[in-house]
Amino acid sequence: MALRLGDTAPNFTAETTEGTIDFHQWLGTGWGILFSHPADFTPVCTTELGAAAKLKPEFDKRSVKCVAISVDPLSSHQGWIGDINETQSCSMNFPIIADPDRTVSNLYDMIHPNADSTFTVRSVFVIGPDKKVKLTLTYPASTGRNFLEILRVIDSLQLTAQFRVATPANWENGNDCIITPAVKDAEIPALFPKGARHVKPYLRYTPQPNR
Ligand code: BEZ
Repeated sequence: MALRLGDTAPNFTAETTEGTIDFHQWLGTGWGILFSHPADFTPVCTTELGAAAKLKPEFDKRSVKCVAISVDPLSSHQGWIGDINETQSCSMNFPIIADPDRTVSNLYDMIHPNADSTFTVRSVFVIGPDKKVKLTLTYPASTGRNFLEILRVIDSLQLTAQFRVATPANWENGNDCIITPAVKDAEIPALFPKGARHVKPYLRYTPQPNR
């Protein structure tokens, strides 16, 4: 069955370009992103890995570890990394899992047979420090993912895990937040000393609490 939000991210042991990992141990106490690529030496995947590698300082700032996966073997990944570094002007700085027997891809339901019976779709799993799945995204092979959007969602996930707020449409880090409906008006001054803007009884904004 497909993984759902709130499920525990399944643990596994796998060969990667940075050695064998036990996934949960490798994640440690921080956040993680596991994202799949249909195959090595493919153009869209090459650009995605370069984009993610260049954003590593941003992921590090948020205590997020990245790991990619493709169903090709380790020797193929190692050759591909040379191309990624060359064509994307980057230096690959996170592991790629080799999954030739599709163990991890099946565990995370990354192969969607009606899209392609062999290769993974472009899945993204954001995993919290409690090892629970916090976000899933599924893109088709033909559409490269937006890693700035993934960072934006992580900002929202980390903020809303800490404060009783939600983030509105198109929110960016630093913008006003929505006070969650469970917060009573009487609680607002203590919880949100920066103040609140009441648009409707159910729509109340506050400046981002951790800024
Ligand atoms: C790509 O990564 O470029 C790609 C992979 C599979 C199908 C289409 C594009």
